[in-house]
Amino acid sequence: EMLEKGGFDHFMLKEIYEQPRSIKDCMRGRIYPQEGKVQLGGIKEFAEKLKNIDRIIIVACGTSWHAGLVGEYLIEEYARIPVEVEYASEFRYRNPIITEKDVVIAISQSGETADTMAAIEMAKERGATIFGICNVAGASIPRLTDAGVYTHAGPEIGVASTKAFTAQVTVLTLMAFYMAQQKGTITTSKLIELLTELDHIPEKVELALESNDLIKEVSEKIKDSTNCLFLGRGTGFPVALEGALKLKEISYIHAEGYPAAEMKHGPIALITEEMPVVFIATQNSSYEKVISNIQEVKARKGKVIAIVTAGDTEVKKMADYCIEIPDANEAFLPLLATIPLQLLSYHIAVMRGCNVDQPRNLAKSVTVE
Ligand code: G6P
Repeated sequence: EMLEKGGFDHFMLKEIYEQPRSIKDCMRGRIYPQEGKVQLGGIKEFAEKLKNIDRIIIVACGTSWHAGLVGEYLIEEYARIPVEVEYASEFRYRNPIITEKDVVIAISQSGETADTMAAIEMAKERGATIFGICNVAGASIPRLTDAGVYTHAGPEIGVASTKAFTAQVTVLTLMAFYMAQQKGTITTSKLIELLTELDHIPEKVELALESNDLIKEVSEKIKDSTNCLFLGRGTGFPVALEGALKLKEISYIHAEGYPAAEMKHGPIALITEEMPVVFIATQNSSYEKVISNIQEVKARKGKVIAIVTAGDTEVKKMADYCIEIPDANEAFLPLLATIPLQLLSYHIAVMRGCNVDQPRNLAKSVTVE
């Protein structure tokens, strides 16, 4: 087993460190930065249809649902197609309005999640076109869908999803650009710029991993907390949700992810010096707003751990701990900001003596309702 873990103590850590490679594998043969072109062979027969769709509905569960939320931001931003993100379990039991002009994207690492499968079957009966984003080739979901794009992250053993999540986000980023290209909502020069940067994201993920020792120190300071809050805005919000999910899954610390501005509608009541608050506070369009949220937490003596852009000076003046990630276009932020949160939950869980790869009561895939 040690051999399978490639020298790492746990599969989860190995899989976290595989991400520069898995993201690269996911993009291979799909992006052409010099030409400003994205090719997605799996959905190419629907290239024409994409010009005329009314709406996209993303269905998924768990971590895959968080990837879907990132997809919503990116598809709406670049392809200007309205997107709804649904929990498969809720969607399937509503009486949703679905037409033949809708595309449903089902996201699933395992390709076997019962609720996601049922949601696909229902949408199919109502005439929608179904795309899949799956990791396991030949699984049930890829066989149910009309077309799809594999994430190519390789087998994921740790129950808490890490590399599969960043690969899903990578595929959704590619889909957003592909749809934008089909619809003409993006220029070739803009695509050249974005794809050139995306091509170098694996190296930036590598740099983000270099904060591991610092993250370990921070973990030591907050490992005995009973609650933890994760806050972010824009694509930083799904990143916060995913950071909270990771922490609760493997360390059993109660954690909540919230849009930073919603803090004042509830979670702020919980803030004391006992409460660590993890902020996604990178330099992007919501930077100033997040800074004022950090001030609100500090005023109540909360402990602030901030994920910041390398070289940041503003947040450093306020936060208790800052973890840097490389600067990047806002579109690629989730791929980078997720990395320190994975490491943070990993180290905290190890320090608390938890079974990191197989947390209690959780399964890698939920094949029953
Ligand atoms: C389980 C796993 C999660 C996963 C979720 C959805 O809860 O523990 O890691 O995100 O199922 O699984 P899927 O295979 O459909 O992505």
